[in-house]
Amino acid sequence: AEAKKEIIKNSIRGVPDFPHAGILFWDVTTILLNHQAFQYTIDLFVEQYKDKKIDVVAGFEARGLIFGAPLALALGAAFVPLRKPGKLPGAKITEEYKTEYSTDKIEMHVGAIQEGQRVLLVDDLIATGGTLMAGINLVKKAGGVVVEAACVIELPFLKGRDKIPGTPLFVLVEKEGL
Ligand code: PRP
Ligand code: MG
Repeated sequence: AEAKKEIIKNSIRGVPDFPHAGILFWDVTTILLNHQAFQYTIDLFVEQYKDKKIDVVAGFEARGLIFGAPLALALGAAFVPLRKPGKLPGAKITEEYKTEYSTDKIEMHVGAIQEGQRVLLVDDLIATGGTLMAGINLVKKAGGVVVEAACVIELPFLKGRDKIPGTPLFVLVEKEGL
């Protein structure tokens, strides 16, 4: 597993001064270009969750969708997209959150998660933890049980983990920023 994590870590590109001066942006599109690194990413998540009775994988638009959907397929779970405002056509519930850079909202379809279902939240990266907190709140509003949150990358210096007490957080790679 450590060798796989090293390959994943080395396939993530750091882009300085994006989206703002002084921010080092961790770009996962370079994982996706490397079939082995992308496969290992999903494999390590499958290993972590295959025996945890996950009913639903919920992935955050945009980059959490990329990792969440193949994981749901591999686990034999449903997949629920947590989307940016105005994208979902049906009745929905909304939660506001703060990111590293701005205030935003995510939305989920009513009926996407059933009362008591066991839910895994997936995103590419945890920074301040605001996005994951919003997802946890959405799942709870729907009556779901948040089992754990999984991200490819954690930025430990931002202490996002502290914002989601009570929800275990599983990450593959830690990066420094700035
Ligand atoms: C980024 C990243 C995470 C979130 C982490 O998403 O993909 O979803 O920020 O930040 P936080 O822990 O401080 O909430 P963003 O909405 O910037 O863009 P995306 O649509 O490309 O995923
Ligand atoms: Mg995102």
